[in-house]
Amino acid sequence: MSHLTPRLRLGVNIDHVATLRNARGGVAPDPLRAALLAQAAGADGITAHLREDRRHIRDADIDALVDALTIPLNLEMAATDEMQAIALRHRPHAVCIVPEKREERTTEGGLEVAADQHHLRDFIAPLKDAGCRVSLFVAPDRAQIEASYAVGAAVVELHSGAYCDFHDAGQQDARDAELVRLRDMAAFAHALGLEVHVGHGLTYGSVGPVAAFPEVRELNIGHFLIGEAVFTGLPAAMAEMRRRMDAARA
Ligand code: PXP
Repeated sequence: MSHLTPRLRLGVNIDHVATLRNARGGVAPDPLRAALLAQAAGADGITAHLREDRRHIRDADIDALVDALTIPLNLEMAATDEMQAIALRHRPHAVCIVPEKREERTTEGGLEVAADQHHLRDFIAPLKDAGCRVSLFVAPDRAQIEASYAVGAAVVELHSGAYCDFHDAGQQDARDAELVRLRDMAAFAHALGLEVHVGHGLTYGSVGPVAAFPEVRELNIGHFLIGEAVFTGLPAAMAEMRRRMDAARA
């Protein structure tokens, strides 16, 4: 592995352990237990999205994660005053700002940074001052990446949802076009000086080509890993994902 391709970090998103818990309204399965298991199994970070409607992760989950984790916590959240106050109270290692629509099933698109630069610059500044590494979740789009750099983000997380959807649907040409877009935009963001992460929808089948991009430093993967854990357990699912990431990187 050359110095241009440092080891790719695997961030494990535990939101959907909370989804399962909340389906019954009780306390099991416990997202903290999943996070600690992932940590013990070699996760490089834990990602949790505190949505405004608290449909999966709740405030108490964030409190527990902050108290118990020894690996970095990446707090995903919308750019609202409420979320900013929570982030400033906890000062997680990283804050990833995502768009949120109440009616969506999952985070459907990237953040509109280019048209909201004023607000985002002001929103990010206190988070940076508090020591958080601020990431913006954006489509692999030049204007959004340039704007992310302009507003002072340290990191962009490129939305891989379109690539993964085409991959899963077997639409090879569209998938390949999205992959080229991700590759070019990872290189573009890296050249600007931004750290590049990728996330959303990644599976054993789709992870390899993205993991191979030398500019990508971190993948954040949740839904597929938690689903696979039902069959194999979380450490085994993570180990298989890690194996595929490392093989693609080699
Ligand atoms: N990265 C970001 C910014 C996300 O919003 C999500 C979904 O919550 C993920 C990564 C993980 O996506 P998935 O659960 O599809 O692996």
